[in-house]
Amino acid sequence: MRLALNIQNTAKDLDVNALPGLYEEAGKALDVLLSGTGKGNDFIGWLTLADGNNQEEIAAIKAAAAKIRSDSEALVIIGIGGSYLGAKAALDFIKTPNYNALPKDGPDIYFIGNGLSADSTNEVIQMLGDRDFSINVISKSGTTTEPAVAFRIFRDLIEKKYGKEEAAKRIYATTDKARGVLKALADAEGYQTFVIPDNVGGRFSVFTPVGLLPLAVAGVDIDEMLAGAKDGFDTCKNADPEVSPAIKYAAVRNGLYRGGKLIEVLAAFEPALRFTGEWWKQLYGESEGKESKGLFPASVDFTPDLHSMGQYMQEGLRIILETFIKVENSDTVLLIPNDEANGDGLNFLTDKPMTWTNHQALAATAIAHMDGGVPNMTITIPDKSARSFGELVAFFELACGISGYMLDVNPFNQPGVEAYKINMFALLGKPGYEAQKAELDARL
Ligand code: PA5
Repeated sequence: MRLALNIQNTAKDLDVNALPGLYEEAGKALDVLLSGTGKGNDFIGWLTLADGNNQEEIAAIKAAAAKIRSDSEALVIIGIGGSYLGAKAALDFIKTPNYNALPKDGPDIYFIGNGLSADSTNEVIQMLGDRDFSINVISKSGTTTEPAVAFRIFRDLIEKKYGKEEAAKRIYATTDKARGVLKALADAEGYQTFVIPDNVGGRFSVFTPVGLLPLAVAGVDIDEMLAGAKDGFDTCKNADPEVSPAIKYAAVRNGLYRGGKLIEVLAAFEPALRFTGEWWKQLYGESEGKESKGLFPASVDFTPDLHSMGQYMQEGLRIILETFIKVENSDTVLLIPNDEANGDGLNFLTDKPMTWTNHQALAATAIAHMDGGVPNMTITIPDKSARSFGELVAFFELACGISGYMLDVNPFNQPGVEAYKINMFALLGKPGYEAQKAELDARL
């Protein structure tokens, strides 16, 4: 595993003498996770997703991706939460957040159904224009309102464009293997389906067809990503903190939490990692934020957010810990040019690579924040390759399972997500929710 974790900037806030005990606790939590004896143990199928036991499925994903790449100029991906964040994070990380705008050899990719904005949905319709497209609708339950609404709109669009029969050949449904209305609809209409395993929750599903199909369509080397994930899982399944960065990360963040740090800010210095932050927030927020416990996960884009959130980070409430992601090598070598007039006084940077200045900014921030009372860790990854993404996701997922058990919660459920759904169904007038609707209407 090439990912490395540096915790030296936590020393002021976390007594080194506390570390062995925290490591031991993290090791025990790892044991519980791997032996399948902990809370939510029917949702730990993600632990083996990179083991290579699904070659038939991978072949089917690649075949579908090849078809979409050959007959579509755009792929519309419909899903929300764990049914889209992993693929979006990976696409931005491995390719670029400007994927659609830059020259490439695959179709444009649009993510919709991750909200209820009519404007942004309509914009995708406009951007599609009269181009050929396919749809990948992703929903484990098949009943989530946001993607279901978007699917209605885009199914209508694609059926009007191609006719029902041809449209069915352009719709790919990723869902539960047997249950749910999406599965029933797919079977009735003859859509090709891909399975989200029963024992894998949405936020842990990027290595299932949920992530693999969109990424294969975008031309990502999914074998390489899974190889990175395998390496990451294998290394992180070790209880020795000197071997497993996941043990170290889970132990340190829990030690800091117990010492009064209530917010963890994930900070990356590459725009391509912005959605890695969004994916990570869901992973940790949904896994740990329950029973009135858990670090609140937030994310920032540095250096831009140093000019907005930097003030609070440096001098606001001292309840923050920070985790940096440092990408060692960029894809581009961009040297800062000389300027004879030197009107901006920057000639001391002549011929310096821009990436070097970015790394110096990270080092400067890490020390300033530590001095200001924000203990921080740095995760270093070599590059933004598919392999590195696989390693990073495996590291964060394993650490999340360990950390959730250290917190003594079930890291694999999300009971709190239901409350707003029930109210929304009631306010939207869903049959069966009449009593709740009357009660809510009276409160509005
Ligand atoms: O992690 C989770 O379980 C959630 O974020 C779900 O992925 C999200 O609510 C979407 O659910 P579904 O895939 O059932 O439409």
